[in-house]
Amino acid sequence: MNQYILSLDQGTTSSRAIIFDRSGKIVALAQKEFNQYYPQSGWVEHNPKEIWSTQLSVATEAVANAGLKASSIAAIGITNQRETTIIWDRRTGQAIYPAIVWQDRRTAAYCDELKEKGLGDTIRQKTGLLIDAYFSASKIHWILKHVAGAYEKAKNGQLAFGTVDAWLIWNLTGGEKHLTDVTNASRTMLYNIHTLEWDDELLELFDIPRSLLPEVRSSSEIYGETAASMLATRIPIAGIAGDQHAALFGQLCTKTGMVKNTYGTGCFMLMNIGDKPILSANNLVTTIAWKLGDKVSYALEGSIFIGGAIVQWLRDGLGIIRNSADVETLAKSVSDTDGVYLVPAFAGLGAPHWDPYARGTIVGLTRGSTAAHIARAALEGIAFQTVDILRAMEADAGVGIKELRVDGGATANNLLLQLQADILQALVVRPQITETTAIGAAYLAGLAVGFWQSVDDIQSQWQINQTFAPDASYDAASAISRWHRAVETAKTFK
Ligand code: G3P
Repeated sequence: MNQYILSLDQGTTSSRAIIFDRSGKIVALAQKEFNQYYPQSGWVEHNPKEIWSTQLSVATEAVANAGLKASSIAAIGITNQRETTIIWDRRTGQAIYPAIVWQDRRTAAYCDELKEKGLGDTIRQKTGLLIDAYFSASKIHWILKHVAGAYEKAKNGQLAFGTVDAWLIWNLTGGEKHLTDVTNASRTMLYNIHTLEWDDELLELFDIPRSLLPEVRSSSEIYGETAASMLATRIPIAGIAGDQHAALFGQLCTKTGMVKNTYGTGCFMLMNIGDKPILSANNLVTTIAWKLGDKVSYALEGSIFIGGAIVQWLRDGLGIIRNSADVETLAKSVSDTDGVYLVPAFAGLGAPHWDPYARGTIVGLTRGSTAAHIARAALEGIAFQTVDILRAMEADAGVGIKELRVDGGATANNLLLQLQADILQALVVRPQITETTAIGAAYLAGLAVGFWQSVDDIQSQWQINQTFAPDASYDAASAISRWHRAVETAKTFK
């Protein structure tokens, strides 16, 4: 009897595999970090081979850890870091260049040119996105221009482009399937979110041959099976969603107006806006939340480029903590930051500022400032960025948001969530399952194969772990106004 779903969660800093049972309980988990490459200032790359090998090895490990036979896996769901761009040779299956990661800023000047040409509106109307180096199109353009012979090969149909989901599926199926889902397609800046097709005008604008592109499918259906050599048996691959979309689904934000914020490498807040792709008036992007059957749901998104990654920097760059979890104790050892503000604009600033040239900034230091103040300011920096997004979302939606569902690795940090509630002056709710990205992909796969019958069938699996209520005596308004002064410094110090 097939009793489990295997979720593959390919994130920015690690590949993970989690096995869920029918009640949504985690049966086994395996995780591997992989290398980050920074070949030049502002560039971020991954090795596509490493993405694949770590993902395959954690999948095998999770199945072994659970003491299961692969044949007891009913289906695989895939969720992934989005926008990251891989181009490979269809014949050899080898990538022709490293994966250009979503955080990579190398195409910022090219994006400026597009803005200067006045293309912002056309692109936004079609894709829901603002022109930024974050999205895949400019990265594909860059690879085709800079890798010798790539453009010609692309024109001849010899190359394939994919976001990470497509790269994994290609490899899982032994090169049989070249496909993606609507959520990942909606992050490329080449996909028309109204017609649900690759857009010829945009392909021409970015000079990208159509033959490079994967077929686009819904987020929940059987796309194919793993090659027999992969996990000892052929398993249906039945769910795909970009990680933030999967998290929205995993948080069961299935009704219009529901919002979640995921604290991963970055922070990503998404609001379900129903079946119409409303455009933001406040610098957020519109994206496809998921497609189930023929029904498309849309979301508004605010993307913060550095969230939990600031804690990694405190550990690896600054060396003030040994393990990521130590940040909470260090930050708690002081009662406030004593006026220190840290703007983690290490990869420029995303929503709502969209400034690719902003630099990470620490302001307000005194002779008495310590590592603890900086650690606390780093956590506050995550929370302040989230406030800027939430206010923009409220303005777009025309309603106040009273409750924020949160998830992701950094939500194990109670201090962060309390600071978030204080700064937001709203309730912050952590569910029992914080592996929402992985379970979202599992739900999508499980629904496709009848493992779960309907969304109603899984609704009761969402349970509260803890609610963080705001301290009403906290002066959020003046803290936020000082934060904005720090953000201005980050934007002007170029
Ligand atoms: O848009 C980038 C996002 O998908 C990355 O997510 O969890 O790897 O920070 P994460």
